[in-house]
Order: sequence, then C-alpha cells, then structure tokens
Amino acid sequence: MREKIIAGNWKMNLSIPEGVKLVEDIEHYLAKRPLQTKVIVAPSFTHLYSINQLNCLHVKLSAQNCHESKKGAFTGEISPLILQDLGVQYVILGHSERRELFGESDALIRAKIEQCLSMKLKPIICCGESLEERRKNKHFEVVKEQLNTALYGLQEKSLKECMIAYEPVWAIGTGETASPEQAQEMHAYIRRFLGSICHYNETISILYGGSCKPSNAQAIFSQKDVDGGLIGGASLNSEDFIELIHLRELM
Ligand code: PGA
Repeated sequence: MREKIIAGNWKMNLSIPEGVKLVEDIEHYLAKRPLQTKVIVAPSFTHLYSINQLNCLHVKLSAQNCHESKKGAFTGEISPLILQDLGVQYVILGHSERRELFGESDALIRAKIEQCLSMKLKPIICCGESLEERRKNKHFEVVKEQLNTALYGLQEKSLKECMIAYEPVWAIGTGETASPEQAQEMHAYIRRFLGSICHYNETISILYGGSCKPSNAQAIFSQKDVDGGLIGGASLNSEDFIELIHLRELM
C-alpha cells in the first residue's frame, strides 16, 4: 500500500522560535490521534538542530537541499553526512527554485540523489513543467526527461526509497493550482513511467505541489494517483497545515 504523505517545504521562512513552535503544535496534534498519514517538515538548515532536539515521535525531518559530496572544500554547502547527525530522514531535491534560481541541472540533481541514497537519506524528487512548456503541450516530455535523468539505472532497492513530487512551476506560489484532472493525469503518467524502470511503481508515493491549500486539497487528494502534498505557503501556519493533514487522512 502507498503511504499518505503531507510534507511542508518552509523554504526560507520562519524564525527558529517560530519553526520550533510550529513543529510542537503539529506534534501535539498528531500525539492525540493515531494517523496513517506521514507528516514531514523541511525547515531551513539553521533550524534543524533545535527541531531535532524536540525528539518528535510523529513529525519527520527533511532538508530542502544538500551537496552531492559527503565532505570537502565547499564553502557554504551542507553535507548529507551532517544532515544525518541532525536527525534528517528526507531531502527535497530538484525543486524548481533550485533548478531555476540556482542553476541546478538534471545531472547535478542525479548526483545528489545518488549521494543521499548512499547515506540512507530518502530523496523527495521534484519535477514539473513551466507554463510555456505546458502551453506547448510538452509537459509529459519535460517531466519524463527530468525523471529519467534522476532515476534511470538506479537499483530497485534505491528506487523504492524515493518519493516523487510533481510541482508544475506555474502553480508554485502563484495561487494557481493544477486542476484535479491535470494532477491525476500527470501522476498516472509518472506512475507508468516508474513502472517502465522498476517494480515499485505501485508503492512509490507521488506528491502534488503547487498552491495546495485547505480549500483545494480535498479534490486533489481524492485523485487515485495523488498520494499526498508537498506544501509551501500553507505549511507555514499550524492551522492550515493541520487541516491539510486531516484532509489527507480522510481522503
Ligand atoms: P506553494 O509551494 O505551496 O507555496 O505553491 C510548493 C512548493 O514549492 O513546494
């Protein structure tokens, strides 16, 4: 059975005390009711130590990025080895902001995926097309290329540790969401692609991301191939994030 997931990508937001309080609130909510939904938060690197100190039983920790090497002369970068020390279990890789604003290529993202997997960190691999690519009807081609470079040739035991997040770039932080049908269509496509490279296509979780919020999540989460959400803006306050967890659990 596929896991239900709600993951919060805080990006470069929240002070350390705000982040700690948010995780405390979510943990408190989850401690009161056993849920099937797995809850993950991805704070800034600077917040990880304090949040790890909370020793949460329910909220899992993700990083938003990491370097492709274990260690070395890479000023300002963060090693997957250090992330392990901080209780991190997941790493978001290939987010469109990293691709666009920091020039990360498919090949670099692949190197990061391999390094994370070798360190037993589970990659949350983002893919998605730009508005222009969708208008030109190239969205399937673009996503396939991104995922092919990210995953092709990895061992099955590695592939089964990966999670995919489909995030159409035109829906990120814009208030515009993919329609439930558009999300389902792409998620089914991704699942078929996964089926062409491994036997775990029915167990790998595929999350939707892009302006997902309580008012539109129900319709998206009820789609057959949508296993959860990678949430940006709506993960920054406990009310919305907990509502999204609740909706994911119900659907
Ligand atoms: P958003 O961000 O929910 O604010 O659109 C999602 C993401 O970038 O992961």
